[in-house]
Amino acid sequence: MQIIETERLILRPFREGDAADLFAYLRAPAATCFLSLKLADLAEAEAEVRKRALDEGSVAICLKQTGQVIGDLFSGAGEGEEDETASVGWNLNPQFGGRGYAFEAARAFCDHLFRAKDFRRLYAYVEDHNTPSQRLCEKLGMRREGVFIEFVSFTKDDAGHPIYENTLQYAILRREWLSGVPAIWQPPG
Ligand SMILES: CC(C)(COP(=O)(O)OP(=O)(O)OC[C@H]1O[C@@H](n2cnc3c(N)ncnc32)[C@H](O)[C@@H]1OP(=O)(O)O)[C@@H](O)C(=O)NCCC(=O)NCCS
Repeated sequence: MQIIETERLILRPFREGDAADLFAYLRAPAATCFLSLKLADLAEAEAEVRKRALDEGSVAICLKQTGQVIGDLFSGAGEGEEDETASVGWNLNPQFGGRGYAFEAARAFCDHLFRAKDFRRLYAYVEDHNTPSQRLCEKLGMRREGVFIEFVSFTKDDAGHPIYENTLQYAILRREWLSGVPAIWQPPG
């Protein structure tokens, strides 16, 4: 993807040299949905960086001032999904939370996906206990479209049974993003 510059950040593909910064937050993922991304050591982080460097949908969020990778964004089209639809997600090093970096990065990323990549609809899945991510979706103007009860499991209880989580779906259309006018849904008939 092309490099995107915002007021405080650079969004760019992952590249060699990013492993230590990625390991800093993926050694202990803050969100249950990213537990499968947990990295054991720097060697795993280096392999993960190499993988991400080849992935068009994977974006490193860097501080303009220092060049440090402070988190990442990703987009992807699910199997069997409409061509012009993509999911979006974000993962910030907790050390850099609460400073507006996630919003600054996600807003520029969505704008890029709508304007440069011509996506028609972007959506995000967010667990019902993940308030910071829900707030981010709402600040981006995404609509809460529904909740899937006991939709997915990322962890198990002591007896080894899956713990299911309730997942909210948020979405926004390109025409809403460009116009700032929310689409209105009316039941047919
Ligand atoms: C979800 C996540 C990206 C949100 O990060 P965040 O730092 O809380 O989000 P924001 O960038 O919107 O910043 C939040 C706060 O920074 C504050 N802030 C401080 N300085 C600011 C500045 N200069 N500009 C803008 N906001 C600023 C804002 O007040 C904002 O609070 P608000 O939401 O009450 O308005 C982060 O919690 C995270 O990575 N969590 C772990 C992974 C995860 O859960 N991913 C999503 C899975 S669905």
